[in-house]
Amino acid sequence: MGSDANKVAVVTGGASGIGEASARRLALDGYAIAVVDINAEQAEAVTAKLSNSVDARNYACDVSDTEALHDTADAIEADLGPVEVLVTSAGLLENSSTVMDMDVAAHDHLWKVNYYGTLHTCRAFAGPMMKRGRGAICTIGSIMSTAPSPLPAYTPSKTAILRLTQILAVELGRHGIRVNSVGPTYVMTPAIQARIDAGERDPEVFKESSALKILVKPQDVADVIAFLCSEQARVITGVHMPVDAGWTVATPYQAYAGGMPWDRTTTGTP
Ligand SMILES: NC(=O)c1ccc[n+]([C@@H]2O[C@H](COP(=O)([O-])OP(=O)(O)OC[C@H]3O[C@@H](n4cnc5c(N)ncnc54)[C@H](O)[C@@H]3O)[C@@H](O)[C@H]2O)c1
Repeated sequence: MGSDANKVAVVTGGASGIGEASARRLALDGYAIAVVDINAEQAEAVTAKLSNSVDARNYACDVSDTEALHDTADAIEADLGPVEVLVTSAGLLENSSTVMDMDVAAHDHLWKVNYYGTLHTCRAFAGPMMKRGRGAICTIGSIMSTAPSPLPAYTPSKTAILRLTQILAVELGRHGIRVNSVGPTYVMTPAIQARIDAGERDPEVFKESSALKILVKPQDVADVIAFLCSEQARVITGVHMPVDAGWTVATPYQAYAGGMPWDRTTTGTP
């Protein structure tokens, strides 16, 4: 049986990347950690390290399998205790294509994992949270949640996650549950590194088009997730927080026909 002394956080996709960084960060905050991931071997490696400091367990589960998600939620509550925090980081990336050329089966599979996976994960864990009248959920969007891009399955799935987050924030708020989303730019995770290695992404383009001219690390996103799920954010719900080194605000400047004002000054500063 789980101990009520445990503060429990669940991280889907916690075996890698943003999810793994979130599991580590929430463990630092003293949470018992449940990693829910389709990659059982990698999840085991993550929880084995975390077990040195907190109660950490892994649960092999495909988030596109709704029944398995509900069974997993029951198992976690029985093993670790009431879940307070849920981070839904299980997800797939996509290479650039067009709506007319894309692989429709791959599109549908990505939606099953990214959108339906997020939807059913939230449903599975929010039910018990509602009964207790407390909880915090953070979904993972993207800079593409609010802008079009040549990722015809991924981009709409992330926009749908944003809207789902807002709807859940309203529906669950009266039950004491907050629901927020982060919107990362390129984050140097294994998933993005594989695409850089395959020539499918150029991190320099993102770096140069951001306001801060820096790349975002998984820990940067994890810190924001931990804040949004913490007591310090107790009045924040329904927000989509870009974690993008200022990419969202800087990109319209790239297309501004008048050029950059600082290119016309002698000092190079505006
Ligand atoms: N890396 C980026 O640049 C970036 C930017 C914005 C948003 N995101 C989002 O962050 C999330 C995590 O991405 P990442 O870069 O950390 O990827 P990652 O591949 O490093 O980690 C994703 C994890 O999800 C797991 N997973 C995949 N499909 C699953 C399924 N069906 N069921 C359970 N687990 C599954 C994988 O095994 C892996 O451990 C995704 O939703 C992604 O869209 C990533």
